[in-house]
Amino acid sequence: MLKKALAYGAIVCLMGCCGAPAMAKAADAAKGKTIYSAKCVLCHGAEGKGNGPAGMAFSPKPANFTSKVFWQAPNIDATMVDSIESGKGQMPSFSDLSVNDVQNLIQYIKQAFKPK
Ligand code: HEC
Repeated sequence: MLKKALAYGAIVCLMGCCGAPAMAKAADAAKGKTIYSAKCVLCHGAEGKGNGPAGMAFSPKPANFTSKVFWQAPNIDATMVDSIESGKGQMPSFSDLSVNDVQNLIQYIKQAFKPK
């Protein structure tokens, strides 16, 4: 009886431990691309270089996501979330984006533009 209960407990624990990460929502770069094309491309450019048609007028220029230096900034992930949600300098805030969509965007920007 005790053995059976222990075995059952182990199975439940296994399911719980292995199931949890699979259930966490993975960032979706494809969704991020759609948002980037709609909201970011005008300033940051299709190649992520910060040279979109509306970006040229800004000083400082929109961030260049293909620059190694950009990714070397401390806490870059948190900084990106903050800038997207609250804006930075002349960049408007995108507070209407959900937490998931901000992560989807960052995932896309990394996959598409971050130098390897
Ligand atoms: C109207 C033009 C414009 C649009 C649209 C825009 N940005 Fe920006 N972005 C800028 C400018 C200008 C900067 C530089 C701000 C500064 O350094 O003062 C910038 C900087 C950034 C940075 C770097 C911030 C930092 O802390 O160094 C990130 C990340 C960023 N933009 C992401 C995005 C994303 C994602 C979108 C789309 C949701 C977006 N931007 C849309 C103009 C824009």
